[in-house]
Amino acid sequence: MALRNLVLEGDPLLRKKSRPVEEITPRIIKLLDDMADTMNYENRGVGIAAPQVGVLRRVFIVDVGDEHGLVEFINPEILETAGSQIDNEGCLSVPGKTCPVERASYVKVRALDRNGNEFIVEGEGLFARCVLHEYDHLEGILFIDKSADGKIYSTESEG
Ligand code: NI
Repeated sequence: MALRNLVLEGDPLLRKKSRPVEEITPRIIKLLDDMADTMNYENRGVGIAAPQVGVLRRVFIVDVGDEHGLVEFINPEILETAGSQIDNEGCLSVPGKTCPVERASYVKVRALDRNGNEFIVEGEGLFARCVLHEYDHLEGILFIDKSADGKIYSTESEG
């Protein structure tokens, strides 16, 4: 098990656009493993994107505890979205903050797995929310940019 340091809000790295993975090397496999370790160690994590551990590559993982299990996405493309949902989000890179964010309630994504095989996955609810949140990280976008009511809340003040 290997943990990576989290890049926190305020670091310009989180605002950069990530580049596609050209080849799935042992380095990328190690990155995926370390991202899962880091997400699970943090406990609150349901997803993490490579820029959050300082790697500007188009890679993220999601595990919202549903039937999808842990899904690893390399070079993901959003094929389809539908519907709308508003709920509070948080982020390992933005500790102590939350705000309501409107997201599609359905998403269909194409990506490569760690063996380089293309797959298509679709999901609703929290899975869709999490995939779209992580995808935003690859574009340098944070959830706090998208507050549905324009406010950012402290998680400590939550009832
Ligand atoms: Ni995040």
